[in-house]
Amino acid sequence: MKGIILAGGNGTRLRPITLGISKQLLPVYDKPMIYYPLSVLMLAGIRDILVISTPADLPQFRRLLGDGSRLGLSFSYAEQPRPRGLAEAFLIGEEHVGDDPVALVLGDNVFHGPRFAEVLRSRLPHTDGCLLFGYPVSDPGRYGVGEADERGRLISLEEKPARPRSNRAITGLYLYDNDVLSIARGLRPSERGELEITDVNREYLRRGKARLVDLGKGFAWLDTGTHESLLAASHYIQTIERRQGVRVACVEEVALRMGFIDAGQCHRLGEELSTSEYGRYVMEVAETYRNAEVRDSVTAL
Ligand code: TTP
Repeated sequence: MKGIILAGGNGTRLRPITLGISKQLLPVYDKPMIYYPLSVLMLAGIRDILVISTPADLPQFRRLLGDGSRLGLSFSYAEQPRPRGLAEAFLIGEEHVGDDPVALVLGDNVFHGPRFAEVLRSRLPHTDGCLLFGYPVSDPGRYGVGEADERGRLISLEEKPARPRSNRAITGLYLYDNDVLSIARGLRPSERGELEITDVNREYLRRGKARLVDLGKGFAWLDTGTHESLLAASHYIQTIERRQGVRVACVEEVALRMGFIDAGQCHRLGEELSTSEYGRYVMEVAETYRNAEVRDSVTAL
């Protein structure tokens, strides 16, 4: 399966900060925002990842992430000149996706929760059609909203409904079989001039091939789009990390636990960052891992 991180957009709700820098490069506590969706793809076992952003911001993503080989990954990059909709990712990324299924994740989505890695990995081999992830929110009218039957089949999909049929917001992680490419090619821009991901999902719904996984209570899907929510997300991550002594979305650790790199490489990556607590954590993880007889399973992001 291929991965796409969509990290363009204007980030207008975060102005003036985003006049000078891409939203997805801003920190969520101790690391760049894009590390969070990147670690989601990595935990799903995806190593071949296309990063899409604006022509102005793409060089900084390249500087941060490089070609991915340090993490045992392969990154490629593509421009989206203007935010013409989430589904444009499949037109821009057509060559990257090739004949494979694909996971699209939005570069500003922060997921954290128990057994997320397991959920991802148990679902991935069975990706036929599309798989969406729903999260209960108090204000579903702001989102795409999905409703599933008892077997997890999507039965309705509404975009920013005035009277939502469920409280399940569709989150920014979407898994598709290869049909998504032809579906995206057939899309027409909506009234707001965008190629809508909801229209892609509607087509899968029409074909009876859309499923909705409920992320449920006890899970965190955090918003980072406004000054308030970005700060709240940082506080959330800080609280978890301090309390548990772990790091959420530490990509070096995820790469190690997933077997993409060995402990020696993880340690070297930590050494390069060793003036920060983050870097020292990466070194410690590598040392613990090297010494451990039994390797931990990947349970945390
Ligand atoms: P949005 O929240 O719709 O837009 P935005 O992040 O640019 O923010 P604002 O509303 O403050 O202007 O986008 C959600 C995510 O998808 C975000 O990470 C940006 C990204 N995106 C693209 O990369 N390309 C697009 O065409 C669109 C619509 C969004």
